[in-house]
Amino acid sequence: MFKGELPLNVEEIRKDFPVLDQEVNGHPLVYLDNAATSQRPLQVVQAVEDFYEKYNANVHRGIHKLSEESSEVYENARTKVAKFINARSDRELIYTRNSTESINLVAYSWGMENLKPGDEVLVTEMEHHANLVPWQLICQRTGATYKYVPIDDTGHLRMDLLDDLLTEKTKLFAFTAASNTVGTINPVKELVKAAHEVGALALVDGAQAAPHMKIDVQDWDCDFFAFSGHKMLGPTGIGFLYGKEEILDAMPPFLTGGDMIREVHIDSATWNDLPWKFEAGTPNIAGAIGMGAAVDYLQKIGMDRIHAHEQVLIKYAMERLSEVPGLTMYGPPAEERGGLVAFTVEGLHPHDIASILDAYGVAVRAGHHCAQPVHDHFGIPATARASFYLYNTPEEADALVNALLEARKIFRLDE
Ligand SMILES: Cc1ncc(COP(=O)(O)O)c(C=O)c1O
Repeated sequence: MFKGELPLNVEEIRKDFPVLDQEVNGHPLVYLDNAATSQRPLQVVQAVEDFYEKYNANVHRGIHKLSEESSEVYENARTKVAKFINARSDRELIYTRNSTESINLVAYSWGMENLKPGDEVLVTEMEHHANLVPWQLICQRTGATYKYVPIDDTGHLRMDLLDDLLTEKTKLFAFTAASNTVGTINPVKELVKAAHEVGALALVDGAQAAPHMKIDVQDWDCDFFAFSGHKMLGPTGIGFLYGKEEILDAMPPFLTGGDMIREVHIDSATWNDLPWKFEAGTPNIAGAIGMGAAVDYLQKIGMDRIHAHEQVLIKYAMERLSEVPGLTMYGPPAEERGGLVAFTVEGLHPHDIASILDAYGVAVRAGHHCAQPVHDHFGIPATARASFYLYNTPEEADALVNALLEARKIFRLDE
């Protein structure tokens, strides 16, 4: 039983998340799939509803009341998100669909323009596919060489190899701030500095970091930072790319068409200012507006407190999970990771684990979590993953462990 104190008042917070207040298969829902997508509070749902109900209009184009209002709220949301990561200005914050699109934007726009045979792109073995596949493809297309930093068996990057892997040939180092599988929180500032020392740019995948900790892109000094709204209480279909202004300025557009232009003639076009140069076509207005509300919500609670809360939860969850016979957890100790843990149980396939847990109302993810190379490293095809957020409780970690013990009984592993 949990005996400590929780940094957050979860009872109050959960009032904003009615979706959590339901039964699944006759048990109270225990939602531990936050690394895949979080739930959204009523404040976010309300902001989206208000937009459609009260001032729906396309942004930037119309000189009429509704369009002015939608443009204002849409751009205000950008300011909120830019401040949330401490960008220097709104011009450095581009709306995309998700982290995947943000990374592809950099790969296609910056990569196709700047990479050539002899150049190198460095990634890591712990990346989500979203930060691997675009670089594999762009390297194939440009003739650049693709390299990676391996991980060790504790789920840390092999920092001892960094000096050899980062050379004056490296043009970009793309790495995650926090792993979605082993949970490791990487030393971002140190990695960015190492990239800059050899003259490379640093792209940080923030999909699993931005929802859970205070982000300061200026302090990190990273050149790009990609993150997704849906993992941080915001709507689906809205994501973000932060980029340093001078780098974004020098990059050609990614998608082209309406909105991203300054002038178009029948045989030529010039580009709009940042950030709109990278925002072709009608954007996800409702998503951006909802995200403004999500950022307000997160900041009201405080990112440091959210992080502290998840630290308490993951420490307790890992302690409790270690009581389950045959269970292996992958990655570093609780203090060195975010609020998620991937595990296997000897004799149980991860998909069986997930379906039995579902029968007890516990939602976890099973599979390779779009991080197949991490699983290859450990020589396993899949894991089950429990991921916590600000509305989770230690009792939900207990429910997870109890359901796992039941799964062992169902599969007669205790006999
Ligand atoms: C570390 C990491 N990077 C990138 C992504 C891709 O995010 P999205 O699917 O929102 O583009 C994820 C999603 O799980 C992730 O965990």
